[in-house]
Amino acid sequence: MAFPESFLQELKLRNDLTEVASSYLTLKRHGRNLVALCPFHGEKTPSFNIYTENNSFYCFGCGVGGDIITFIMKIENLDYVDAVKFLAQRAGMDMPEDSYDDSMSKLRNRVFEANREAARYYYKSLYSPEGKEGLDYFHSRMLSDRTIRHFGLGFAYGDWSSLCDYLEQKGFSHNELVAANLAVRQKSGKGIYDRFRNRVMFPIIDLRGNVIAFGGRIMTDEKPKYLNTSDTPVFKKSENLFSLNNAKNSGSRTLILCEGYMDVIAVNQAGFQNAVATLGTALTREQAMLMKRYADEVIICYDSDEAGQKATSRAIPILRGAGLLVRVLTVPGSKDPDEFIKSKGADGPAAFQALIQKSGNDVEYRLQKLRGGFNLDTPDGKVRFLEEAAGIIAGIYSPIERDVYISRLCKEFEIGKDAFVRQVNSVNRRQNRENSKKEIRRIQNDLSGRGDKLDTERSKKPRSSSAEEALVAYLINNPDAADYIDSHIAADQFQNELMRRYYTYFLNRIRDGMEPLNNLNSDFSDDERSRVYKILAKYGTVAGTRQSLDEYLGIIAEESKKLSKKDISNMTAEEIQAYLNGQRQ
Ligand code: GTP
Ligand code: MN
Repeated sequence: MAFPESFLQELKLRNDLTEVASSYLTLKRHGRNLVALCPFHGEKTPSFNIYTENNSFYCFGCGVGGDIITFIMKIENLDYVDAVKFLAQRAGMDMPEDSYDDSMSKLRNRVFEANREAARYYYKSLYSPEGKEGLDYFHSRMLSDRTIRHFGLGFAYGDWSSLCDYLEQKGFSHNELVAANLAVRQKSGKGIYDRFRNRVMFPIIDLRGNVIAFGGRIMTDEKPKYLNTSDTPVFKKSENLFSLNNAKNSGSRTLILCEGYMDVIAVNQAGFQNAVATLGTALTREQAMLMKRYADEVIICYDSDEAGQKATSRAIPILRGAGLLVRVLTVPGSKDPDEFIKSKGADGPAAFQALIQKSGNDVEYRLQKLRGGFNLDTPDGKVRFLEEAAGIIAGIYSPIERDVYISRLCKEFEIGKDAFVRQVNSVNRRQNRENSKKEIRRIQNDLSGRGDKLDTERSKKPRSSSAEEALVAYLINNPDAADYIDSHIAADQFQNELMRRYYTYFLNRIRDGMEPLNNLNSDFSDDERSRVYKILAKYGTVAGTRQSLDEYLGIIAEESKKLSKKDISNMTAEEIQAYLNGQRQ
């Protein structure tokens, strides 16, 4: 991966992180820096920091940090090369010739192309004589040809190789088709065969209009009912949503979250473009954060069976955690929204609209569910219901919202408000105490380095590790001091392996006359890159004084002279003697 350094430097100069980030986030000034609610994890108090001195960010909540390229990769869901293209375009810069087209990015592009050709092929097949079965199936499910075209639905023939044959003839290699998961390699290892056979096909399209994956439904009762593309270089099912490309253009800040492809399509056909679905898995935090970027509110519209209701209960805290308002729509008398709309015939759209209007928020839904578990005709049942209800209400963040539910329940159950408020407050205090305990434990662990998977030595050697971290930060911020530092310390005096790696890396870059941070995305893993920004955030992006530098150097030198037990057991008698002599001097 090689973008010219000068190109990257200009790219970063022309794309100011603060300016770019402010179009995605509400930034607040905090001294020299800016803070915001982190877009990469759900939170209520801001721990996302932008450091204006060096155009970097770091979130103390989720530990993600980087430069403007990392920011765009994460927030636009792009890979490195595409994020660079995005920023070049934004700044009106030309991309350097081809140099960036490494093999991975080439493969990704080929997978996109193969998927697009496959989607076209599946669509065309639907309207061929052999595809009539598929078209009849969609028609039997009340989809119009307009809807079929709008979603680009299709049909995969029942034989083993028609798609592969077609795409090979178009110039795609076995490798590319297997990477796209359009084809599967034969056990013998020689040939490949079509992954999707005899299924109606649903293309999954990302926000830039790329076909990234497919879902395919069998038309009979055979299993599996749905088959989805596995994760590929361009697709991760836990981070994408079906039909978000349509929903994004609906002009609404509300999304309707359904369980399946057919629900989304039926809801769309009824006139609601803002429906999305997960891709056959439970809702993830990543998907919730993705929704949060295009919506303020989500209406959960899962199946009315027990599995659907369980999934609803699990989805509520995930959506809330991402900062979304949540409502729950229940479909009366039908399995799912698709069947509901169909059962109402021409009145489907109006009937569904009425359900949306009637849908209560998540608290009402949870209270409603809770009611079902108690016999409210007995005093005992009432008391136990109200105690549990207090627990639900105590978890609401807004005091006004809490008050609304308290008042409502007090009125209904004819109890004094004071007693119920006391109950809610006591649970609320307990929850707060537990939360702050958790937070304190997290901070303690973070400070001590316990449970740090990336840097396992920090908790064992805290003194040298801190000095080494500080020195790495100093070096990055003061490339001019490289020679001075180098003449006072050697890399093998570092006790902490990760810091030694950083130190050597940054020293070499500075020697080669390069901007220290410019190529972190290519030279390190995500966690390693984030850690560099964590260290910078921790030790301040402002240059330390020469005096503090000498302190770091002193500690590192001192600690490197201390011998570990392991070292001592390997020493000869003479070596031990020499060491002790050295200590006495
Ligand atoms: P229809 O039966 O066509 O109306 O589909 P549905 O959306 O009502 O299906 P269901 O409620 O059974 O499943 C909801 C979603 O779960 C589907 O859209 C799929 O994404 C996923 N799903 C269902 N069955 C399977 C399966 O056998 N395998 C996989 N991987 N996913 C499935
Ligand atoms: Mn269904």
